[in-house]
Amino acid sequence: MSVPKKLFIKTYGCQMNVYDSERMAEVMGGEGYVETDRAEDADMILLNTCHIREKAAEKVYSELGRFRPLKAAKPDLTIGVAGCVAQAEGAEIIARQPLVDVVVGPQSYHRLPELTAKARNGARALDTEFPADDKFDGMAARPKARRGPTAYLTVQEGCDKFCAFCVVPYTRGAETSRPADRVMAEAWDLVERGVREITLLGQNVNAYNGHDGGLAGLIRVLAGIDGLERIRFTTSHPNDMDEALIAAHGEVEKLMPYLHLPVQSGSDRILKRMNRKHTAKDYLLLVERIRAARPDILMSGDFIVGFPEETEADFAATMALVETVGYGQAFSFKYSPRPGTPAAERDQVDLAEADDRLQRLQALLTLQQRARQDAMVGREVSVLFEKPGRFKGQLAGKSEYLHSVHVLTETASAGEIARVRVVASNANSLTGEIVA
Ligand code: 5AD
Ligand code: SF4
Repeated sequence: MSVPKKLFIKTYGCQMNVYDSERMAEVMGGEGYVETDRAEDADMILLNTCHIREKAAEKVYSELGRFRPLKAAKPDLTIGVAGCVAQAEGAEIIARQPLVDVVVGPQSYHRLPELTAKARNGARALDTEFPADDKFDGMAARPKARRGPTAYLTVQEGCDKFCAFCVVPYTRGAETSRPADRVMAEAWDLVERGVREITLLGQNVNAYNGHDGGLAGLIRVLAGIDGLERIRFTTSHPNDMDEALIAAHGEVEKLMPYLHLPVQSGSDRILKRMNRKHTAKDYLLLVERIRAARPDILMSGDFIVGFPEETEADFAATMALVETVGYGQAFSFKYSPRPGTPAAERDQVDLAEADDRLQRLQALLTLQQRARQDAMVGREVSVLFEKPGRFKGQLAGKSEYLHSVHVLTETASAGEIARVRVVASNANSLTGEIVA
């Protein structure tokens, strides 16, 4: 038997890239590659990249430089760049970094074996097309091996919203949804392999239209799968949060009480300049409706500070919105001008000012997160155990609210869901005890 070739994949950015990396590893598995977590051992290195902010894109070039000695020692080593930097800067990568053999955009992963074969024959291969067919259709069936209790499942890709700061509509293309029957088949398969929680993914997952009932319809049919205990979805746009999806949060027991709903800013002036097509009030009313359906829901969000022309008054409006909502989790970023997006052409906010705003916002969000986490102490939660914890005899998992929970237990094992009483709130996790 020949020795299997080794594949090292490094993933940057969002969960959609995590899912894509899994699928690429499976595709290359069909070509005789097994995964390794050491770049030094690899016959093929793939960087699955993110283009959302400047820093993320720069990392790719510095990481590639680090592979030079590996390629010198092993001239047959294939180096590939996948993901959104590949899509946005494909030809430039080939020109700027001679180490790179393959460049493949997010919609062309099914063509990876072909591109790799081409590279092995000495040609450098680039594919950044947006083919009309579903890339997942062209991929081999997923393997049957047992796997961990949680999984991502991409159901929707692309974005038609064109927020003025964002590269996604350019790197991931127009909104498309995978048909519900294919999503269901994949979900059945995952559950057979031991998965108990599925997170449905999409750049605009709540714009999903592969089921007549939209995302809510898909969630309801998924909830009918025996053995699948928990459903989550991310990321959502406020304008696609329809009545059916709000109602599902109150009615579908398996749908977890956690919602990532980015608002980006609390200032109507900035929201308009961002092309968000909603006001701060629209967002606040929406959060009220969601909380009416599911009062304990934990809200998460994304924020950008220092968007072009943002004044101190605009920033104050963002802080006020955060105070009103009370987030249990949130991500905040300093605006990063992205080439080709409308906002990149506008007057930029002073960098020191933007840094200062980011610090103030993050301080408030951290306080809110911590307060919400501390308030869990003494309460009972349900925990899906995923893996051993840091200490002997400990298991780590997630509560329904996505808090990390550590429990000392001799009886429970990964994949089980247990009732747990929270006894302590730590910096980034909770400690709990199994309720007898
Ligand atoms: N600058 C800073 N943050 C950005 N995001 C998207 N584009 C940019 C940018 N140009 C943030 C948004 C989005 C999250 C995924 O990344 O908050 O919701
Ligand atoms: Fe980017 Fe806006 Fe689309 Fe989200 S909704 S992916 S922020 S353009």
